[in-house]
Amino acid sequence: MPIPMLPDFVTSQVDLTPYNTLALPARAGFFARIHSVEQLIALVRHPEFIGRRRFVLGSGSNLLLAGDFSGFVLHMDIPGKRRISEDAAYIYLAAAAGENWSDFVAWTLASGWPGLENLIGIPGAAGAAPIQNIGAYGAEISDFLHQLTALDLASGETLTFAARDCAFGYRESLFKREGWHLSGRYAITEIVLRLPKAWRVRAAYGEIAAELARGGIRNPTPAQVAQVISALRARKLPDPRQLANAGSFFQNPKVSAELAAALQHAHPQLPCYPQPGGGVKLAAAWLIEQTGWKGRNLGPVGMHEQQALVLVNRGGASYRDVQNLSRAVREAVFARFGVSLTPEPVVLADQRTEDRGQRTV
Ligand code: EPU
Repeated sequence: MPIPMLPDFVTSQVDLTPYNTLALPARAGFFARIHSVEQLIALVRHPEFIGRRRFVLGSGSNLLLAGDFSGFVLHMDIPGKRRISEDAAYIYLAAAAGENWSDFVAWTLASGWPGLENLIGIPGAAGAAPIQNIGAYGAEISDFLHQLTALDLASGETLTFAARDCAFGYRESLFKREGWHLSGRYAITEIVLRLPKAWRVRAAYGEIAAELARGGIRNPTPAQVAQVISALRARKLPDPRQLANAGSFFQNPKVSAELAAALQHAHPQLPCYPQPGGGVKLAAAWLIEQTGWKGRNLGPVGMHEQQALVLVNRGGASYRDVQNLSRAVREAVFARFGVSLTPEPVVLADQRTEDRGQRTV
């Protein structure tokens, strides 16, 4: 219901179950659906907003709700995508925060601007994409991001962050590293992508190459790569509208070269990806599958039968259920391989929930 003191796009005591793809139940004290930057600026200056906790929500596809949140949830629903400009080497395109990322990718391809095809099908909103540096099939958004615009929710100031200032890493950025994604420091309002005009598709990733070979495709177009990836994703990753999930539940762990070598000696099938800066990344899904958790449930949650890295809510799960399964899987992997898994999604907890020590997954 609307609150007299606040603009009419703010409601109170809102059920967040439909706003997180894992479908965990929680209530927001205040919920603002933001359709424009002007609305956001108006809210930021409002006396009822100042001093309260805030959380910037995109599509909730990488989110774990640890309980009710007493502050403001700002649901970024700002629409808009456009070609900004081009120079000899690049085309510059903008997506407002509320654009669906995958639809944006499809639009670029349909417009004849290749580059983002490997990132098709990743759920979520464009404004959230840089926060965890979304990636799949050998590409990450940081390969293409030119800059982003954000509103400082404390000062009301509009800021531009160049890509080089975003400290991107594997599922990592300045926004995440500084905890700003949880403290509601900034709301990203627009991202600008820079697509090289001289583009060669990246189809060397094992699964893509195999799928293309199966279809007899030698020199794939970006659209064909997108098609293959969409089909692969549909086969392995459950659609949250049918089976609630938050994508990969754990990050792929990076371990020392020594540990990787020892593990590979004991398990010759172990997928290992040596990293440019040293260390080796292991496939968390493979480790989980070896422990027998793939396709297994604990209460109303389970690890998906097609992709062991995806934790699914089979109906009515609570945050406690997710914690229990997360712990069981992490313990099993650690007991077998001596490797610690780190959950990937963002955990949103109220101060009070944190005080009760319920925050860890
Ligand atoms: N594997 C298994 N069992 C499984 C699934 C995979 O043994 O159940 C093995 C595969 O055989 C392969 C390896 O694990 O050797 C890697 O699997 P896959 O290529 O499916 O990718 P992933 O490492 O499990 C990552 C991203 C996904 C992204 C895919 C495709 C992370 C945490 N996850 O998964 O991103 O779609 O690569 O590029 O980096 C997400 O972040 O939410 C997400 C879904």
